[in-house]
Amino acid sequence: MPCLVVVGAQWGDEGKGKVIDLLASKADVIVRFQGGSNAGHTLVIKGQKFIFHLIPSGILHKGKKCVIGNGVVVDPEVLVEELDSLRERGYPVGGDRLLLSEAAHLVLPYHKAIDRAREEKRGIGTTRRGIGPAYEDKVARVGIRVGDLLHEEILRSKLQRLLETRAPYTRDLLGEDIRVEDLFRDLLRYRERLRPFITNTSLFLARALKEGKRVLFEGAQGTLLDVDHGTYPYVTSSNTVAGGACCGAGIGPTQIDLVLGVAKAYTTRVGEGPFPTELTDQVGHYLRERGGEYGATTGRPRRCGWFDAVVVRHAIRVNDIGALALTKLDTLTGLDPIRICTSYLLDGEKVEEFPDGAELVARCRPIYEEMEGWREEIRGARSLDDLPRAARRYVERLEEILGVPFSIISVGAEREETILLRDPFEERAQGLLR
Ligand code: GDP
Ligand code: IMO
Ligand code: MG
Repeated sequence: MPCLVVVGAQWGDEGKGKVIDLLASKADVIVRFQGGSNAGHTLVIKGQKFIFHLIPSGILHKGKKCVIGNGVVVDPEVLVEELDSLRERGYPVGGDRLLLSEAAHLVLPYHKAIDRAREEKRGIGTTRRGIGPAYEDKVARVGIRVGDLLHEEILRSKLQRLLETRAPYTRDLLGEDIRVEDLFRDLLRYRERLRPFITNTSLFLARALKEGKRVLFEGAQGTLLDVDHGTYPYVTSSNTVAGGACCGAGIGPTQIDLVLGVAKAYTTRVGEGPFPTELTDQVGHYLRERGGEYGATTGRPRRCGWFDAVVVRHAIRVNDIGALALTKLDTLTGLDPIRICTSYLLDGEKVEEFPDGAELVARCRPIYEEMEGWREEIRGARSLDDLPRAARRYVERLEEILGVPFSIISVGAEREETILLRDPFEERAQGLLR
């Protein structure tokens, strides 16, 4: 039975939440494997909006299991808030529905304070959710893991070690030490809320896969924010690419059957860093307002620009994307012409491949191809035939340039506002997709 990884093919906010919600109806288990509450995944169901930061976007489908894997950095405050808010809205979540890896690292208040302090000095426009500092502690081997909550003595001694290791740094940046006793007390409070969910999720997934369950991995951020394959240093602190699903969930690479990339019909980016097709003119403004391009986590206006095929081809390669979901096609209604960036001009030379490193990308100028636009609203379209001719042409041209088929075309934020061309699970099972 297929195991599907869904990843963002641009700089995040591609509409992964909506795509995961759609596919979750056909899956048994939905897994987050990296990132933390920097993610903001939006679902709109019959006019009701849900934004998920840590809980997988499959949670609204009753009976499906949702997993927060070891690769995620978990802010217990945010997780408890999400659980409370779901309960208030009629979706109580118990240990039978949500599994939290004991090996996942915790985001502590001091991580958020460091993130904020660094951003105020000289930042890259992070979400200030403490993501970078939490991963730094994990890699420095001084982090606190979810499983530590269950052993008071171990927790206390690990907090003490953290205080000592980080003191030179926290004193300089924050002007104070980590308050071990306060932290210890707060963490014990969260422990009681989180205890029912804590388990060995890698083992759970191994058993699920063995039983032939369909597993859906929910990437956060996007390929161009990957710490290795993105526009370093303007990236997040985790591996957002499909390979990250293995490390971040504890499964082997041969378990993955298909990688589905999600790409917007144009490009957006929040925070700093190079963005070759960025539009700071009226068209950029139009995309932002019509597309509601304001951050789901921070409310910041997103930078907007034309579709960049160099970026998405890069994502196709580093993730081995076999099928794509194209989202927010409806946002382009009313723009004429529409442009697609097919290559760059870098220091006078044409380049087809995404250059490595932010400095080179910043020097790239987009080379565009122009397409005819359309004026009709397309949110009611449920098949390709319902689309205006120009919109169909745009989709076909993108498919041609990218060399990967679209499985899903999204024409509105609502679950129903979707053109489902192929069911990626079924198609993969039948060997029709690579
Ligand atoms: P994610 O982080 O990849 O899950 O994406 P976000 O939720 O941060 O941002 C995508 C935004 O676009 C959300 O507000 C969605 O509700 C919305 N959205 C998703 N698909 C579509 C679409 O096809 N059309 C429109 N107009 N909005 C969409
Ligand atoms: P979803 O899952 C868009 C960006 C931040 C910043 C950089 C580093 O909703 O697509 P961080 O807080 O991770 O240290 O910030 O990464 N960023 C995102 N941009 N969507 C996201 O998540 C993002 N998560 C982080 O804006 O530029
Ligand atoms: Mg988002």
